[in-house]
Amino acid sequence: MQIVILADAELIAKYGADLIQKQISAKPCSVLGLATGSTPVALYGELIEANRSGALSFHSVSTFNLDEYLGLEGSHPQSYRHFMNEHLFNHIDIDIHNTAVPPGNAVNPIDACRDYEASIEAKGGIDIQLLGIGRNGHIGFNEPSSGLSSRTRVKTLTQATIADNARFFSEGEFQPHLSMTMGIGTIMDSRKVVLLATGASKADAIKATVEGPLTASCPASALQMHRDAVLVLDEAAAAKLSGREFYKHTERENQKLLAQLGI
Ligand code: F6R
Repeated sequence: MQIVILADAELIAKYGADLIQKQISAKPCSVLGLATGSTPVALYGELIEANRSGALSFHSVSTFNLDEYLGLEGSHPQSYRHFMNEHLFNHIDIDIHNTAVPPGNAVNPIDACRDYEASIEAKGGIDIQLLGIGRNGHIGFNEPSSGLSSRTRVKTLTQATIADNARFFSEGEFQPHLSMTMGIGTIMDSRKVVLLATGASKADAIKATVEGPLTASCPASALQMHRDAVLVLDEAAAAKLSGREFYKHTERENQKLLAQLGI
């Protein structure tokens, strides 16, 4: 794992956006894996800005989102499809037909999950997968106890996740307890993973992800086995890492080496 600790959320957004921008520059028809939630919103702002300025085009890019609530139409204001349209797709030059979010309104969600996996494969797999992390260590909606080689499927949300996400729903509004999510195996198949985490509420999950055992009790710990996973953290999210100073030192050394090599 590459661990990058930065001063604040703004620098994290810029760092993450830069990785995506480099990916698209190297391969204009890149396949991006995207996340919702509060954490990536500023990064999407950076991508929109880069697109507006002409520095970045999404013309040939395809995207697959991690997850969706089961039982919500894409037009529902709390659906992740709606979130992605509002926070990214409506503001960039992407072909909306090349953007995929698991269909939460599928008549047969089991078939739909299998089809989602097949569409990712048909595009040649995900080049770079963006992730947030839940306080309980979930990635996508892979809650603790999720199989470490699971594929896209229907998952039940924990009470903790339902409570965390209740802030997006108004009082009395239907809040789904089920989701469709890429599996941990699906995420592990992506060629690069970039996980962003900000704030003290994520510190325990980050500690377990980086320095805990590889265990389904902390789904993000599977990333210990990923060949190219970058964790971009603010000081608060990194606060419980015993190796914090070593990770910072390693990152400074990495940067020096890249500069020497002119990369
Ligand atoms: C969202 C997703 C979730 C979130 C996680 C963190 O598509 O898959 O795993 O990344 O719940 O959410 P925030 O960023 O709101 O703290």
